[in-house]
Amino acid sequence: MIPNETVSVTPCTREFLSTHHHRMLIDGRWVDGSSGETLAVLNPATETVLATVPAGSAADVDAAVQAARRAFVSPAWAKMKPDQRQRLLLRLADLVEAHARTLAEIESLDNGKPAAVAEAVDVALAASYFRYMAGWATKIEGSTLDVSIPFAPQAEFVGYTRREPVGVVGAIVAWNFPLLLAAWKIAPALATGCTVVLKPAEQTPLSALYLARLIQEAGFPDGVVNVVTGDGPSVGAPLTRHPGVNKLTFTGSTDIGKLIGKAAMDNMTRVTLELGGKSPVIVLEDCDPGVAAAGAAQAIYFNQGQVCCAGSRLYAHRKIFDRVVADLADHANALTIGHGLDPANQLGPLVSQEQMERVCGYIDIGRQQGGEIVAGGKRAADIGYFVQPTVIAGVDQKARVVQEEIFGPVVVAMPYDDLDQVAAWANDTPYGLGASIWSNDLARVHRLIPKIHAGTVWVNCHNMLDPALPFGGYKQSGFGREMGRAALDGFLEQKSVLIAV
Ligand code: NAI
Ligand code: MG
Repeated sequence: MIPNETVSVTPCTREFLSTHHHRMLIDGRWVDGSSGETLAVLNPATETVLATVPAGSAADVDAAVQAARRAFVSPAWAKMKPDQRQRLLLRLADLVEAHARTLAEIESLDNGKPAAVAEAVDVALAASYFRYMAGWATKIEGSTLDVSIPFAPQAEFVGYTRREPVGVVGAIVAWNFPLLLAAWKIAPALATGCTVVLKPAEQTPLSALYLARLIQEAGFPDGVVNVVTGDGPSVGAPLTRHPGVNKLTFTGSTDIGKLIGKAAMDNMTRVTLELGGKSPVIVLEDCDPGVAAAGAAQAIYFNQGQVCCAGSRLYAHRKIFDRVVADLADHANALTIGHGLDPANQLGPLVSQEQMERVCGYIDIGRQQGGEIVAGGKRAADIGYFVQPTVIAGVDQKARVVQEEIFGPVVVAMPYDDLDQVAAWANDTPYGLGASIWSNDLARVHRLIPKIHAGTVWVNCHNMLDPALPFGGYKQSGFGREMGRAALDGFLEQKSVLIAV
């Protein structure tokens, strides 16, 4: 079924959407789930069904893990030289770029985000991450050591370490950046020689299935990447418990991350968790209020606020607080909201009715706890899961809207008086994913950076990610790092070798 609103999409998007039912990829074959049941995939801008996908089960997870295990030891993959893995990853990066518009359109229809944003950010970052990780395939190295064993002083040894792929990777991702999160898991796994079973979010499975086509086209052997669609309890949970999985990598809520971490320990499965956030945006008194407001708007409203590191708490120095908040409200009110395929729109809908209700529920909680709605504050249309960009002021540090992840276009704004106070408030949530500081006062900025408990601190920018820069959380925002050299550690074992000579 081709939705009406897709008149101007690429022929590839059109062809993809004309298949009303999409199968999942196990062992190089496109298959339905063993139960035969399906899940509907909705367009959140129109609330209409885009397609159906298999509702996978534990049996499908088992088939995919078995396929990934076979592929892991198959000569076609296990004996492949690093430069050949690099070449395949580079080819995949080229294919992602060649299909950029199509991937962006599919992402827009499935998730709601503007296609232009998906193309410029999600798809571009995914391609650059495959390319970045391609380079690492040929640069995985151990070290040689001169040992001095005290109880064998006369003996001679050769000591060295080697890095080896951990094995089968179970990757479970959320719906806010479906393609990009899949790339964050798949790229380092393939660079290191692992194999993958990917479970996309049930709300947004389509771009992962399209990516799987490109992975096949790039020439990766069958079973190296498998995609099993379905919900958390039916597919995600069995994947986390499967003894054939050597490493789990997850992006999603902190609650589910904790469940996955506990399940992982039963089999001592390696685990990386990229979880929630409540990232502060800290505006120092020297900052131009207009610059701070524009930055704060980008920090919270990018991707409709459905960003793990979204700048959802604004702390502006009391001297400039009113100006910053007034300008931020102007930015919020000026944003154009609508269907993601219309290039005029800067914001799309939230991903689902559930998410829209959760976000509107939080806005109500903010009101009930004494908050003043300075901008937005309600649903933005009768059809589609659109929520107005919202600014809440007048709440204190203990309010639920200040402490809990809302994961929508809602920022809470609070004034502060001095650096120690704002550092304490910035750290006063269970999370520690990101933070931004807005100032040109070099000394104060440098005094503040070490005080902030967060995996990333941006200065005069927010939400900026680079494939080379490690990304991950302090505290309950996660475990381990993605991107950069640090990401490889999660996909490699370290073997020590000692040879008596
Ligand atoms: P979620 O954490 O439930 O879902 C993320 C992924 O985990 C999905 O693929 C889901 O199917 C899977 N999953 C769910 N239950 C599972 C289980 N028992 N075992 C294994 N996998 C399981 O997130 P959800 O429900 O979509 O969103 C709820 C809230 O979580 C949001 O409102 C937001 O606050 C937060 N969230 C945070 C994200 C982040 O990047 N920080 C991303 C998505 C959600
Ligand atoms: Mg859930």
